Amino acid sequence: MVKLLGIALLLPLVISFSPSTIFNKGLTRSAVSTTNYSPVTSPSIRRGATELNAKNKKVVVLGGDGFCGWPTSLYLSDQGHDIIIVDNLSRRNIDNELGCDSLTPIASPAERVRAWEEVSGKKIKFVNLDVAKDYAELVELFKTEKPDTVVHFAEQRAAPYSMKSSKGKRYTIDNNVPGTNNLCCAIVDAERDIHVVHLGTMGVYGYGTSGGEIPEGYIDVTLPGGRESNILHPAYPGSVYHATKCLDAIMFQFYQKNDQLRITDLHQGIVWGTNTPQTIRDERLINRFDYDGDYGTVLNRFLMQGAMGVPLTVYGTGGQTRAFIHVTDTARCIEIAINNPPKKGDRVEIFNQVAETRRVRDIAGMVASRTGVEMKMVPNPRQEAAENELDVSNKKFCNLGLEPLTLDEGLFDEVTEVVQKYKHRCDPRMILPATYWNKARAEECEKKMPSVGEMTKDMK
Ligand SMILES: NC(=O)c1ccc[n+]([C@@H]2O[C@H](COP(=O)([O-])OP(=O)(O)OC[C@H]3O[C@@H](n4cnc5c(N)ncnc54)[C@H](O)[C@@H]3O)[C@@H](O)[C@H]2O)c1
Repeated sequence: MVKLLGIALLLPLVISFSPSTIFNKGLTRSAVSTTNYSPVTSPSIRRGATELNAKNKKVVVLGGDGFCGWPTSLYLSDQGHDIIIVDNLSRRNIDNELGCDSLTPIASPAERVRAWEEVSGKKIKFVNLDVAKDYAELVELFKTEKPDTVVHFAEQRAAPYSMKSSKGKRYTIDNNVPGTNNLCCAIVDAERDIHVVHLGTMGVYGYGTSGGEIPEGYIDVTLPGGRESNILHPAYPGSVYHATKCLDAIMFQFYQKNDQLRITDLHQGIVWGTNTPQTIRDERLINRFDYDGDYGTVLNRFLMQGAMGVPLTVYGTGGQTRAFIHVTDTARCIEIAINNPPKKGDRVEIFNQVAETRRVRDIAGMVASRTGVEMKMVPNPRQEAAENELDVSNKKFCNLGLEPLTLDEGLFDEVTEVVQKYKHRCDPRMILPATYWNKARAEECEKKMPSVGEMTKDMK
Protein backbone atom coordinates (compact mmCIF):
# COMPACT_ATOMS: atom_id res chain seq x y z
CA MET A 1 0.00 0.00 0.00
CA VAL A 2 1.25 3.52 -0.61
CA LYS A 3 -0.18 6.50 0.80
CA LEU A 4 -0.55 9.75 0.87
CA LEU A 5 1.35 -0.08 -43.77
CA GLY A 6 0.11 -2.09 -47.27
CA ILE A 7 2.32 -3.02 -44.27
CA ALA A 8 4.30 0.04 -43.34
CA LEU A 9 8.04 0.07 -43.67
CA LEU A 10 9.97 -2.36 -41.54
CA LEU A 11 13.38 -0.86 -40.94
CA PRO A 12 15.96 -3.18 -39.45
CA LEU A 13 19.09 -1.02 -39.41
CA VAL A 14 22.62 -2.18 -38.72
CA ILE A 15 25.68 0.04 -38.08
CA SER A 16 28.15 0.14 -35.20
CA PHE A 17 30.45 2.55 -33.24
CA SER A 18 31.54 3.21 -29.70
CA PRO A 19 29.04 4.70 -27.28
CA SER A 20 29.36 8.15 -25.85
CA THR A 21 29.29 8.35 -22.10
CA ILE A 22 28.03 11.90 -22.05
CA PHE A 23 24.93 11.14 -19.97
CA ASN A 24 26.49 8.77 -17.48
CA LYS A 25 27.64 11.41 -15.04
CA GLY A 26 24.27 12.75 -14.00
CA LEU A 27 22.69 9.49 -12.88
CA THR A 28 23.03 8.51 -9.28
CA ARG A 29 23.63 4.87 -8.52
CA SER A 30 20.47 4.69 -6.46
CA ALA A 31 18.45 5.82 -9.44
CA VAL A 32 19.82 3.92 -12.37
CA SER A 33 22.97 1.99 -12.98
CA THR A 34 24.54 1.12 -16.31
CA THR A 35 25.85 -2.20 -15.06
CA ASN A 36 24.25 -5.36 -13.63
CA TYR A 37 20.91 -4.23 -14.84
CA SER A 38 18.93 -7.38 -15.48
CA PRO A 39 15.47 -7.75 -13.90
CA VAL A 40 16.89 -10.04 -11.22
CA THR A 41 20.04 -8.12 -10.35
CA SER A 42 18.60 -4.62 -10.53
CA PRO A 43 18.35 -2.93 -7.14
CA SER A 44 14.62 -2.53 -7.72
CA ILE A 45 13.66 -6.08 -8.60
CA ARG A 46 13.94 -8.91 -6.10
CA ARG A 47 14.24 -12.53 -7.15
CA GLY A 48 10.73 -13.86 -7.37
CA ALA A 49 7.90 -14.49 -9.72
CA THR A 50 9.49 -12.34 -12.41
CA GLU A 51 12.46 -14.59 -12.65
CA LEU A 52 10.37 -17.76 -12.55
CA ASN A 53 8.09 -16.63 -15.37
CA ALA A 54 10.71 -14.90 -17.47
CA LYS A 55 11.28 -15.99 -21.06
CA ASN A 56 12.36 -13.98 -24.02
CA LYS A 57 9.33 -12.89 -25.95
CA LYS A 58 8.50 -11.15 -29.19
CA VAL A 59 6.91 -7.86 -28.17
CA VAL A 60 5.20 -5.25 -30.34
CA VAL A 61 5.36 -1.86 -28.61
CA LEU A 62 2.59 0.42 -29.88
CA GLY A 63 3.65 4.03 -29.23
CA GLY A 64 7.28 2.98 -28.82
CA ASP A 65 8.62 6.37 -29.94
CA GLY A 66 7.11 8.18 -26.93
CA PHE A 67 8.29 9.26 -23.50
CA CYS A 68 7.45 5.91 -21.83
CA GLY A 69 7.52 3.71 -24.95
CA TRP A 70 11.08 4.45 -26.07
CA PRO A 71 12.89 3.69 -22.79
CA THR A 72 10.62 0.67 -22.28
CA SER A 73 11.48 -0.67 -25.75
CA LEU A 74 15.21 -0.32 -25.05
CA TYR A 75 14.88 -1.91 -21.61
CA LEU A 76 12.96 -4.89 -22.99
CA SER A 77 15.43 -5.26 -25.87
CA ASP A 78 18.28 -5.14 -23.36
CA GLN A 79 16.63 -7.96 -21.40
CA GLY A 80 16.67 -10.13 -24.54
CA HIS A 81 13.12 -9.61 -25.81
CA ASP A 82 12.60 -9.18 -29.57
CA ILE A 83 11.10 -5.70 -30.05
CA ILE A 84 9.04 -4.19 -32.86
CA ILE A 85 8.08 -0.54 -32.37
CA VAL A 86 4.88 0.70 -34.00
CA ASP A 87 4.32 4.46 -33.98
CA ASN A 88 2.70 6.98 -36.34
CA LEU A 89 4.82 9.84 -34.92
CA SER A 90 1.68 11.78 -33.99
CA ARG A 91 3.35 13.04 -30.80
CA ARG A 92 6.13 14.64 -32.86
CA ASN A 93 3.43 16.22 -35.06
CA ILE A 94 1.69 17.65 -31.97
CA ASP A 95 5.00 19.29 -31.05
CA ASN A 96 4.88 21.05 -34.42
CA GLU A 97 1.25 22.03 -33.88
CA LEU A 98 1.93 23.48 -30.40
CA GLY A 99 5.14 25.21 -31.50
CA CYS A 100 7.05 23.41 -28.79
CA ASP A 101 9.66 20.70 -28.87
CA SER A 102 11.11 18.14 -26.51
CA LEU A 103 13.71 19.91 -24.37
CA THR A 104 16.07 17.10 -25.25
CA PRO A 105 17.01 16.83 -28.95
CA ILE A 106 15.45 13.48 -29.81
CA ALA A 107 16.80 11.66 -32.84
CA SER A 108 14.58 10.40 -35.67
CA PRO A 109 13.17 6.88 -35.20
CA ALA A 110 15.53 5.52 -37.86
CA GLU A 111 18.55 7.07 -36.14
CA ARG A 112 17.36 5.86 -32.74
CA VAL A 113 17.12 2.20 -33.77
CA ARG A 114 20.40 2.41 -35.69
CA ALA A 115 22.15 3.84 -32.64
CA TRP A 116 20.68 1.11 -30.41
CA GLU A 117 21.98 -1.60 -32.72
CA GLU A 118 25.43 0.01 -32.76
CA VAL A 119 25.52 0.24 -28.97
CA SER A 120 23.87 -3.05 -27.98
CA GLY A 121 24.17 -5.31 -31.02
CA LYS A 122 20.38 -5.76 -30.82
CA LYS A 123 17.94 -4.99 -33.60
CA ILE A 124 14.67 -3.17 -33.06
CA LYS A 125 12.26 -2.90 -35.99
CA PHE A 126 10.34 0.32 -36.49
CA VAL A 127 6.95 0.31 -38.22
CA ASN A 128 5.18 3.58 -39.05
CA LEU A 129 1.52 2.70 -38.71
CA ASP A 130 -1.56 4.46 -37.28
CA VAL A 131 -3.15 2.03 -34.84
CA ALA A 132 -6.44 3.95 -34.96
CA LYS A 133 -6.66 3.94 -38.78
CA ASP A 134 -4.45 1.33 -40.45
CA TYR A 135 -6.47 -1.70 -39.39
CA ALA A 136 -5.60 -4.14 -42.22
CA GLU A 137 -1.89 -3.40 -41.72
CA LEU A 138 -2.17 -4.07 -37.99
CA VAL A 139 -3.82 -7.46 -38.59
CA GLU A 140 -1.15 -8.30 -41.17
CA LEU A 141 1.60 -7.31 -38.74
CA PHE A 142 0.20 -9.66 -36.08
CA LYS A 143 -0.16 -12.51 -38.60
CA THR A 144 3.35 -12.01 -40.00
CA GLU A 145 5.30 -11.26 -36.82
CA LYS A 146 3.32 -13.55 -34.46
CA PRO A 147 4.17 -11.54 -31.30
CA ASP A 148 3.66 -13.02 -27.83
CA THR A 149 2.76 -9.63 -26.37
CA VAL A 150 1.58 -6.21 -27.50
CA VAL A 151 2.33 -3.30 -25.18
CA HIS A 152 -0.13 -0.48 -25.91
CA PHE A 153 1.18 3.04 -25.24
CA ALA A 154 -0.22 4.53 -28.50
CA GLU A 155 -2.69 7.08 -27.23
CA GLN A 156 -2.97 10.86 -26.95
CA ARG A 157 -1.94 11.12 -23.33
CA ALA A 158 -2.09 14.72 -22.16
CA ALA A 159 -5.18 15.66 -20.15
CA PRO A 160 -4.65 19.39 -20.92
CA TYR A 161 -4.32 18.74 -24.67
CA SER A 162 -7.56 16.72 -24.51
CA MET A 163 -9.29 19.74 -22.92
CA LYS A 164 -7.70 22.43 -25.10
CA SER A 165 -10.47 22.83 -27.62
CA SER A 166 -13.16 20.84 -29.37
CA LYS A 167 -10.36 19.77 -31.74
CA GLY A 168 -8.32 18.36 -28.84
CA LYS A 169 -11.35 16.63 -27.30
CA ARG A 170 -12.46 15.07 -30.57
CA TYR A 171 -8.96 14.02 -31.62
CA THR A 172 -8.30 12.36 -28.27
CA ILE A 173 -11.49 10.30 -28.48
CA ASP A 174 -11.05 9.59 -32.23
CA ASN A 175 -7.47 8.41 -31.71
CA ASN A 176 -7.60 6.53 -28.40
CA VAL A 177 -10.92 4.68 -28.57
CA PRO A 178 -10.60 3.26 -32.14
CA GLY A 179 -6.94 2.45 -31.43
CA THR A 180 -7.83 0.19 -28.52
CA ASN A 181 -10.76 -1.34 -30.38
CA ASN A 182 -8.56 -1.97 -33.45
CA LEU A 183 -5.94 -3.65 -31.28
CA CYS A 184 -8.42 -6.08 -29.71
CA CYS A 185 -10.25 -6.68 -32.97
CA ALA A 186 -6.98 -7.29 -34.86
CA ILE A 187 -5.85 -9.91 -32.36
CA VAL A 188 -9.15 -11.73 -32.88
CA ASP A 189 -8.92 -11.41 -36.70
CA ALA A 190 -5.28 -12.53 -36.75
CA GLU A 191 -6.30 -15.59 -34.67
CA ARG A 192 -3.29 -15.17 -32.40
CA ASP A 193 -3.19 -15.66 -28.61
CA ILE A 194 -1.45 -12.33 -27.96
CA HIS A 195 -1.23 -10.90 -24.44
CA VAL A 196 -2.14 -7.19 -24.36
CA VAL A 197 -0.39 -4.97 -21.81
CA HIS A 198 -2.08 -1.57 -21.80
CA LEU A 199 -1.08 1.65 -20.10
CA GLY A 200 -4.06 3.03 -18.27
CA THR A 201 -3.96 5.77 -15.65
CA MET A 202 -4.70 6.31 -11.97
CA GLY A 203 -7.08 9.01 -13.23
CA VAL A 204 -9.70 6.36 -14.15
CA TYR A 205 -10.55 6.06 -10.45
CA GLY A 206 -10.94 9.78 -9.82
CA TYR A 207 -8.76 10.99 -6.98
CA GLY A 208 -9.75 9.81 -3.51
CA THR A 209 -13.33 8.94 -4.46
CA SER A 210 -13.26 5.45 -2.91
CA GLY A 211 -13.12 6.93 0.58
CA GLY A 212 -10.19 4.65 1.42
CA GLU A 213 -7.47 2.65 -0.23
CA ILE A 214 -7.93 2.43 -4.02
CA PRO A 215 -7.85 -1.27 -4.83
CA GLU A 216 -6.27 -2.65 -7.99
CA GLY A 217 -9.00 -2.37 -10.60
CA TYR A 218 -11.84 -4.18 -8.87
CA ILE A 219 -13.81 -3.21 -5.79
CA ASP A 220 -16.03 -5.18 -3.42
CA VAL A 221 -19.56 -3.77 -3.35
CA THR A 222 -22.83 -4.62 -1.71
CA LEU A 223 -25.64 -4.37 -4.23
CA PRO A 224 -29.27 -3.65 -3.31
CA GLY A 225 -30.69 -6.65 -1.39
CA GLY A 226 -27.34 -7.26 0.29
CA ARG A 227 -25.82 -9.10 -2.70
CA GLU A 228 -22.02 -9.06 -2.55
CA SER A 229 -20.11 -8.45 -5.77
CA ASN A 230 -16.64 -7.54 -6.99
CA ILE A 231 -16.83 -5.15 -9.91
CA LEU A 232 -14.63 -2.81 -11.96
CA HIS A 233 -13.94 0.24 -9.78
CA PRO A 234 -16.41 2.97 -10.78
CA ALA A 235 -14.99 5.21 -13.48
CA TYR A 236 -14.68 8.87 -12.52
CA PRO A 237 -12.66 10.63 -15.23
CA GLY A 238 -11.40 14.19 -14.77
CA SER A 239 -10.77 14.98 -18.46
CA VAL A 240 -11.59 13.69 -21.94
CA TYR A 241 -8.23 11.92 -21.92
CA HIS A 242 -9.08 10.12 -18.68
CA ALA A 243 -12.51 9.27 -20.12
CA THR A 244 -10.81 7.41 -23.00
CA LYS A 245 -8.91 5.26 -20.50
CA CYS A 246 -12.22 4.41 -18.78
CA LEU A 247 -13.68 3.45 -22.17
CA ASP A 248 -10.59 1.31 -22.84
CA ALA A 249 -11.23 -0.57 -19.58
CA ILE A 250 -14.82 -1.34 -20.62
CA MET A 251 -13.69 -2.54 -24.05
CA PHE A 252 -11.07 -4.78 -22.49
CA GLN A 253 -13.73 -6.28 -20.23
CA PHE A 254 -15.86 -7.04 -23.30
CA TYR A 255 -13.08 -8.57 -25.45
CA GLN A 256 -11.89 -10.69 -22.55
CA LYS A 257 -15.39 -12.04 -21.94
CA ASN A 258 -16.30 -12.50 -25.60
CA ASP A 259 -13.00 -13.62 -27.15
CA GLN A 260 -10.98 -14.71 -24.11
CA LEU A 261 -8.27 -12.17 -24.89
CA ARG A 262 -5.52 -12.09 -22.26
CA ILE A 263 -5.26 -8.50 -21.11
CA THR A 264 -3.32 -6.63 -18.41
CA ASP A 265 -4.33 -3.02 -17.75
CA LEU A 266 -1.77 -0.95 -15.83
CA HIS A 267 -3.15 2.08 -14.06
CA GLN A 268 -0.03 4.19 -13.97
CA GLY A 269 0.80 7.24 -11.88
CA ILE A 270 2.48 10.38 -13.19
CA VAL A 271 5.83 9.47 -14.72
CA TRP A 272 8.90 11.54 -13.94
CA GLY A 273 12.59 11.35 -14.80
CA THR A 274 14.10 11.36 -18.27
CA ASN A 275 16.75 8.83 -18.97
CA THR A 276 17.33 5.20 -18.09
CA PRO A 277 20.45 3.01 -18.11
CA GLN A 278 19.72 2.23 -21.76
CA THR A 279 18.99 5.75 -23.06
CA ILE A 280 22.19 7.15 -21.55
CA ARG A 281 24.39 4.82 -23.57
CA ASP A 282 24.44 7.21 -26.52
CA GLU A 283 23.20 10.74 -27.00
CA ARG A 284 21.15 9.60 -30.01
CA LEU A 285 19.15 7.39 -27.63
CA ILE A 286 18.10 10.27 -25.38
CA ASN A 287 14.50 10.20 -24.19
CA ARG A 288 12.07 13.04 -24.84
CA PHE A 289 11.49 15.59 -22.10
CA ASP A 290 8.27 17.60 -22.14
CA TYR A 291 8.16 20.75 -20.06
CA ASP A 292 5.27 22.68 -21.55
CA GLY A 293 1.95 23.39 -19.84
CA ASP A 294 0.12 20.72 -21.87
CA TYR A 295 2.51 17.75 -21.97
CA GLY A 296 5.04 18.41 -19.21
CA THR A 297 4.30 16.21 -16.19
CA VAL A 298 4.21 18.12 -12.90
CA LEU A 299 7.48 17.10 -11.28
CA ASN A 300 9.45 17.42 -14.52
CA ARG A 301 7.93 20.91 -14.97
CA PHE A 302 8.99 21.94 -11.46
CA LEU A 303 12.53 20.64 -12.01
CA MET A 304 12.68 22.59 -15.28
CA GLN A 305 11.48 25.76 -13.61
CA GLY A 306 13.91 25.25 -10.73
CA ALA A 307 16.84 24.92 -13.10
CA MET A 308 15.74 27.99 -15.08
CA GLY A 309 15.38 30.05 -11.90
CA VAL A 310 11.72 30.86 -12.58
CA PRO A 311 8.99 30.38 -9.92
CA LEU A 312 7.45 26.92 -9.59
CA THR A 313 3.84 27.31 -10.76
CA VAL A 314 1.64 25.41 -8.30
CA TYR A 315 -1.99 25.14 -9.46
CA GLY A 316 -4.54 26.21 -6.84
CA THR A 317 -3.49 25.33 -3.29
CA GLY A 318 -1.22 22.51 -4.46
CA GLY A 319 -3.30 20.26 -2.21
CA GLN A 320 -3.89 17.75 -5.01
CA THR A 321 -2.41 14.38 -4.05
CA ARG A 322 -1.15 12.39 -7.01
CA ALA A 323 0.63 9.08 -7.60
CA PHE A 324 4.15 9.04 -9.04
CA ILE A 325 6.54 6.57 -10.64
CA HIS A 326 10.03 6.97 -12.10
CA VAL A 327 10.40 6.23 -15.82
CA THR A 328 12.91 3.47 -15.05
CA ASP A 329 10.24 1.66 -13.03
CA THR A 330 7.68 2.08 -15.83
CA ALA A 331 9.89 -0.17 -17.95
CA ARG A 332 10.47 -2.64 -15.14
CA CYS A 333 6.76 -2.90 -14.33
CA ILE A 334 5.98 -3.60 -17.96
CA GLU A 335 8.42 -6.47 -18.06
CA ILE A 336 6.88 -7.91 -14.90
CA ALA A 337 3.44 -7.66 -16.53
CA ILE A 338 4.74 -9.28 -19.73
CA ASN A 339 6.23 -12.14 -17.74
CA ASN A 340 3.05 -12.71 -15.70
CA PRO A 341 0.17 -12.79 -18.18
CA PRO A 342 -3.32 -13.81 -17.10
CA LYS A 343 -4.40 -17.28 -18.20
CA LYS A 344 -6.82 -17.59 -21.09
CA GLY A 345 -10.30 -17.05 -19.68
CA ASP A 346 -9.09 -15.05 -16.65
CA ARG A 347 -10.70 -11.67 -16.20
CA VAL A 348 -8.66 -8.58 -17.16
CA GLU A 349 -5.65 -8.32 -14.82
CA ILE A 350 -5.31 -4.83 -13.37
CA PHE A 351 -2.28 -3.44 -11.55
CA ASN A 352 -1.76 -0.03 -10.02
CA GLN A 353 1.60 1.01 -11.45
CA VAL A 354 2.65 3.54 -8.82
CA ALA A 355 5.55 3.98 -6.45
CA GLU A 356 4.10 6.51 -4.00
CA THR A 357 1.67 9.36 -3.59
CA ARG A 358 2.56 12.96 -2.73
CA ARG A 359 0.86 16.31 -2.49
CA VAL A 360 1.78 18.65 -5.35
CA ARG A 361 2.80 21.47 -2.97
CA ASP A 362 5.08 19.08 -1.04
CA ILE A 363 6.83 18.15 -4.28
CA ALA A 364 7.16 21.82 -5.19
CA GLY A 365 8.58 22.38 -1.70
CA MET A 366 11.24 19.71 -2.28
CA VAL A 367 12.28 21.30 -5.57
CA ALA A 368 12.13 24.83 -4.12
CA SER A 369 14.37 23.99 -1.17
CA ARG A 370 16.84 22.29 -3.45
CA THR A 371 16.99 25.06 -6.07
CA GLY A 372 16.26 28.16 -3.98
CA VAL A 373 13.45 29.08 -6.39
CA GLU A 374 10.16 30.32 -4.92
CA MET A 375 6.81 28.57 -5.28
CA LYS A 376 4.04 30.62 -6.84
CA MET A 377 0.44 29.58 -6.32
CA VAL A 378 -1.42 30.33 -9.57
CA PRO A 379 -5.12 29.87 -10.38
CA ASN A 380 -5.92 26.26 -11.22
CA PRO A 381 -6.70 25.86 -14.93
CA ARG A 382 -8.25 22.48 -14.14
CA GLN A 383 -11.70 21.65 -12.78
CA GLU A 384 -10.71 19.42 -9.88
CA ALA A 385 -10.89 19.14 -6.09
CA ALA A 386 -8.58 21.69 -4.46
CA GLU A 387 -7.39 19.12 -1.90
CA ASN A 388 -7.65 15.33 -1.87
CA GLU A 389 -6.25 12.35 -0.06
CA LEU A 390 -4.95 9.44 -2.11
CA ASP A 391 -4.34 6.00 -0.73
CA VAL A 392 -3.44 3.46 -3.43
CA SER A 393 -2.71 -0.24 -3.31
CA ASN A 394 0.34 -1.37 -5.31
CA LYS A 395 0.63 -4.79 -3.66
CA LYS A 396 0.49 -6.80 -6.86
CA PHE A 397 3.67 -5.38 -8.38
CA CYS A 398 5.42 -5.49 -5.00
CA ASN A 399 4.43 -9.16 -4.59
CA LEU A 400 5.92 -9.83 -8.01
CA GLY A 401 9.23 -8.41 -6.90
CA LEU A 402 9.15 -4.66 -7.59
CA GLU A 403 10.89 -2.41 -5.10
CA PRO A 404 10.02 0.92 -6.64
CA LEU A 405 12.27 3.95 -6.65
CA THR A 406 10.76 6.71 -4.57
CA LEU A 407 11.14 10.47 -4.69
CA ASP A 408 14.62 10.76 -3.39
CA GLU A 409 16.17 14.11 -4.11
CA GLY A 410 19.25 12.27 -5.35
CA LEU A 411 17.11 11.19 -8.28
CA PHE A 412 16.55 14.82 -9.15
CA ASP A 413 20.19 15.10 -10.23
CA GLU A 414 19.59 13.26 -13.47
CA VAL A 415 16.72 15.52 -14.55
CA THR A 416 18.49 18.63 -13.31
CA GLU A 417 21.58 17.80 -15.34
CA VAL A 418 19.51 17.21 -18.47
CA VAL A 419 17.63 20.45 -17.92
CA GLN A 420 20.84 22.42 -17.33
CA LYS A 421 22.43 20.99 -20.42
CA TYR A 422 19.50 21.78 -22.72
CA LYS A 423 17.91 24.80 -21.11
CA HIS A 424 18.95 26.94 -24.08
CA ARG A 425 16.27 24.97 -25.97
CA CYS A 426 13.56 25.92 -23.49
CA ASP A 427 10.91 28.44 -24.50
CA PRO A 428 9.78 29.82 -21.11
CA ARG A 429 6.48 31.01 -22.61
CA MET A 430 5.48 27.37 -22.98
CA ILE A 431 5.74 26.50 -19.27
CA LEU A 432 2.65 28.39 -18.13
CA PRO A 433 -0.72 26.65 -18.48
CA ALA A 434 -2.26 27.10 -21.90
CA THR A 435 -5.44 25.06 -21.46
CA TYR A 436 -8.46 25.64 -19.21
CA TRP A 437 -10.99 22.96 -18.35
CA ASN A 438 -14.04 25.21 -18.85
CA LYS A 439 -15.11 28.83 -19.28
CA ALA A 440 -15.11 29.58 -15.54
CA ARG A 441 -11.54 28.30 -15.15
CA ALA A 442 -10.43 30.30 -18.22
CA GLU A 443 -11.97 33.51 -16.88
CA GLU A 444 -10.38 33.19 -13.45
CA CYS A 445 -7.00 32.35 -14.95
CA GLU A 446 -7.24 35.27 -17.37
CA LYS A 447 -7.75 37.65 -14.45
CA LYS A 448 -5.16 36.25 -12.03
CA MET A 449 -2.48 34.38 -13.96
CA PRO A 450 0.91 36.14 -13.82
CA SER A 451 2.29 37.26 -17.15
CA VAL A 452 5.17 35.45 -18.84
CA GLY A 453 7.32 38.55 -18.34
CA GLU A 454 6.61 38.57 -14.59
CA MET A 455 7.39 34.85 -14.31
CA THR A 456 10.66 35.02 -16.23
CA LYS A 457 12.16 38.26 -14.95
CA ASP A 458 14.77 36.48 -12.80
CA MET A 459 15.45 33.71 -15.30
CA LYS A 460 18.98 32.31 -15.18
N1 LIG B 1 3.59 10.06 -19.10
C1 LIG B 1 2.87 9.82 -18.04
O1 LIG B 1 3.06 10.44 -16.97
C2 LIG B 1 1.80 8.76 -18.05
C3 LIG B 1 1.08 8.49 -16.87
C4 LIG B 1 0.09 7.53 -16.87
C5 LIG B 1 -0.19 6.83 -18.03
N2 LIG B 1 0.51 7.09 -19.16
C6 LIG B 1 0.14 6.36 -20.39
O2 LIG B 1 1.27 5.79 -20.98
C7 LIG B 1 1.15 5.83 -22.41
C8 LIG B 1 2.40 6.46 -22.99
O3 LIG B 1 2.55 7.77 -22.45
P1 LIG B 1 3.76 8.70 -22.90
O4 LIG B 1 3.97 9.67 -21.84
O5 LIG B 1 4.86 7.85 -23.40
O6 LIG B 1 3.07 9.47 -24.14
P2 LIG B 1 3.73 9.98 -25.49
O7 LIG B 1 2.75 10.90 -26.13
O8 LIG B 1 5.10 10.47 -25.26
O9 LIG B 1 3.84 8.64 -26.35
C9 LIG B 1 2.74 8.05 -27.02
C10 LIG B 1 3.25 7.55 -28.37
O10 LIG B 1 2.16 6.93 -29.06
C11 LIG B 1 2.17 7.37 -30.42
N3 LIG B 1 0.79 7.29 -30.91
C12 LIG B 1 -0.29 7.98 -30.47
N4 LIG B 1 -1.37 7.63 -31.19
C13 LIG B 1 -0.98 6.70 -32.09
C14 LIG B 1 -1.64 5.97 -33.12
N5 LIG B 1 -2.94 6.15 -33.39
N6 LIG B 1 -0.92 5.06 -33.83
C15 LIG B 1 0.41 4.89 -33.60
N7 LIG B 1 1.09 5.57 -32.65
C16 LIG B 1 0.41 6.47 -31.91
C17 LIG B 1 2.73 8.79 -30.37
O11 LIG B 1 3.30 9.23 -31.59
C18 LIG B 1 3.76 8.70 -29.24
O12 LIG B 1 5.04 8.38 -29.74
C19 LIG B 1 -0.12 6.61 -22.73
O13 LIG B 1 -1.14 5.74 -23.10
C20 LIG B 1 -0.44 7.30 -21.43
O14 LIG B 1 -1.81 7.47 -21.27
C21 LIG B 1 1.50 8.04 -19.21
